[in-house]
Amino acid sequence: MNRETLNKIIRNRKTIYPTQFSDKEIPESVINEILENAIHAPTHRMTQPWFFKIYKGKSKDVLCEIIQKIDKEKYSAVKINKFIDKVKSSDTIISVCMTKDESNRVPEWEEIAAVSMAVQNMWLSCYVNDIGSYWSTPALKDDYAKHSGLNSNQKSLGFFFMGSYKHLETPKVREGLDSKVEWV
Ligand SMILES: Cc1cc2nc3c(=O)[nH]c(=O)nc-3n(C[C@H](O)[C@H](O)[C@H](O)COP(=O)(O)O)c2cc1C
Repeated sequence: MNRETLNKIIRNRKTIYPTQFSDKEIPESVINEILENAIHAPTHRMTQPWFFKIYKGKSKDVLCEIIQKIDKEKYSAVKINKFIDKVKSSDTIISVCMTKDESNRVPEWEEIAAVSMAVQNMWLSCYVNDIGSYWSTPALKDDYAKHSGLNSNQKSLGFFFMGSYKHLETPKVREGLDSKVEWV
């Protein structure tokens, strides 16, 4: 176990946008490893509420078709086209979904928290694999949910865009511990 390595991974992880991705393909085995790390996130009462739809290669067209089906009156063509550009610039898009526990054993916010922790695991795993990634939560995700085959018990929590990227160690913007911690 190496404390320094863990600190570096957590502190250097960054949002990398699709315009910054390179064309180098991400092997499917790496995507699977990242997903495996995702599902090791903590989960209250073991409800394991995460569900991921993977769009890669030809299936990126499927995602674009779903987005094109969305009511044009609700979102401008500019918004829709921007989303499609991001899909095209990415190697893989993970649609982040939450399946609500049918017997309501935990409040919904805990299910969302568990899925968010799974996303953090993916984000950190991307960092060590020279993959840039970005969690996008556009309003159109709810319409995507209707057209993508999610059931009434499932929600879209947005999209995790991924593409090859060589990370630079650039300083991070965060308020310091002074304003965020109170030792009692
Ligand atoms: C729940 C969640 C939703 C987010 N949704 C968006 C989004 O819709 N658009 C966006 O540009 N960034 C989104 N982000 C990324 C944040 O903008 C980003 O994490 C923040 O600017 C801090 O930068 P960093 O990730 O490089 O530390 C989201 C992050 C989280 C945790």
